[in-house]
Amino acid sequence: MQLGASPSQIKYGSGWYPTEHAEGGSFAWMATAATVDVSASGNDDIVVVEYSYPALGSPIPDLVVGDKRYQLYPGYNSLLIPVSEVTAPQAGLVSLNLEIDRLAGFYEDQRDLGLKVHRIYVESDPVVINYKKTQAAIASRPEVCDNTPIVYMIGVTDRCNLRCVICLKHHEQDGDNNKDLIDLPDPSLEKLMPLAYSAQMVLLLGYGEPLLNKRLPEIIDDISAKADNSIEMITNGLLLSPQWIDKILSRNVRVLSISMDAATPDGYERMRGGSYEKVIRNVQALVAERAKRKNAKLEIRMNMAVTRANITEVPLLSELAADLGVDTVEFRHLHENPLHAWRVEKPDFVFDYNDALIENDPEECRIALNDAIRRAKRRGVRYILDAPFVGLVDDELVIAADVEVGEYHECPHPWRWLMVTAAGDAYTCCWAPPLAKLADYSSGAELWNGHEYRRLRRNIKAGIVDPLCAGVTCPFQQKAISKDAPVNEKPAPVI
Ligand SMILES: C[S@@+](CC[C@H](N)C(=O)[O-])C[C@H]1O[C@@H](n2cnc3c(N)ncnc32)[C@H](O)[C@@H]1O
Ligand code: SF4
Ligand code: SF4
Repeated sequence: MQLGASPSQIKYGSGWYPTEHAEGGSFAWMATAATVDVSASGNDDIVVVEYSYPALGSPIPDLVVGDKRYQLYPGYNSLLIPVSEVTAPQAGLVSLNLEIDRLAGFYEDQRDLGLKVHRIYVESDPVVINYKKTQAAIASRPEVCDNTPIVYMIGVTDRCNLRCVICLKHHEQDGDNNKDLIDLPDPSLEKLMPLAYSAQMVLLLGYGEPLLNKRLPEIIDDISAKADNSIEMITNGLLLSPQWIDKILSRNVRVLSISMDAATPDGYERMRGGSYEKVIRNVQALVAERAKRKNAKLEIRMNMAVTRANITEVPLLSELAADLGVDTVEFRHLHENPLHAWRVEKPDFVFDYNDALIENDPEECRIALNDAIRRAKRRGVRYILDAPFVGLVDDELVIAADVEVGEYHECPHPWRWLMVTAAGDAYTCCWAPPLAKLADYSSGAELWNGHEYRRLRRNIKAGIVDPLCAGVTCPFQQKAISKDAPVNEKPAPVI
């Protein structure tokens, strides 16, 4: 329960004074100790203290609450105080005594100790609590996390009904493409489900077609009943029956992304192979059914992996999406890591993975993406760009939310991201190879703090390129494609 977005609604006790210029009337400390009362509904609640502290040279103090000590960080952060840590089990009013353990004393106003408190409130929703904990973990970068992944991907199957040329598991055009491939086994599902109830976003996908998994409706029902979060699904759309459409529109599914890799029947035949007409009919049925349901919250997307082999179809996807009433187009970069390198020969089409990378012709890609985005804007379709494209398209077409690039030590993925495939391989981002195996752990939570995750977190925090990340193209190893900088730079060396 939030006591109030404005500090005047918070029951501050002694030790506070309002800062003169603070936006929204934030409070600063005027003594090393202050008190505040908050209402908690239960022992699982957490008190969130949104604060900022200047990134100046002097050591940052700890905040002491009762007999617990919490580290503060420079910049704008949230400190999370579990109610159970600072009071005896109870519901109702919780009085907190907050103390700063040392003075910074670098302000002209000697009462100002540097710490500004913008908001204090109590949070009860496990999904929101986990999100807040994750933000705090990304700021402090602990080796062992008390948050769980907020972006959580469950690979529900590796089996597929298509043979897309870009697909790691299914690009072979001959033989049985599902040989040795399985749906997520029940014991793995049991290990993985608990983490789904605290994730902000659960992605149900796989190295296969998720709608092939017979247990998927049950999985969606279970998550929707236990958590107020978002489920996203990526599908090739071929099996999108009326029953599936009803399930998707009546549960927590907030995003359904249909993979096209093309916009015309010919392009679809080359890149994916199935029935273009069927996918289009299914999308039309989904859009029509959503329009009938006033409260439907589903965002419908069409996505495309942009390659030199389908570059002429890129602008056409925006037109197709607009024609069909699809909300969003998503342009993705081809995965680049040592596992991705093959050649597929079809009767009148050859797909060579390395040759298809748009790094080989960034100018052609730039023109196609600019065109696609301008068409999307003109026709009222939202667009999403994969991070490597952000430096490539015209600056005014970049949406701030798309920009997530940085230095190696700034990579946030191991503190927020987990994907486990049906075969039990665990990944921490969609660029690097697998990090760990679910079979080595008795639960998803154990894997999340297992030795592989801890090693990766330790190395990233220290700026030492982990063996997992070496040679991988990702936005945290200076590999965003840019129209101004040379392409194909080598990633940072492994130390
Ligand atoms: C592996 S598929 C699984 C879901 C479903 N079968 C589908 O195609 O949508 C998940 C997403 O990964 C994309 N994908 C597959 N191979 C890729 C690659 N080599 N690089 C980038 N994206 C790829 C697909 O286009 C799809 O959007
Ligand atoms: S539909 Fe998805 S899983 Fe199947 S081959 Fe294509 S990309 Fe791979
Ligand atoms: S490969 Fe890149 S995105 Fe993935 S964990 Fe390493 S630095 Fe982060």
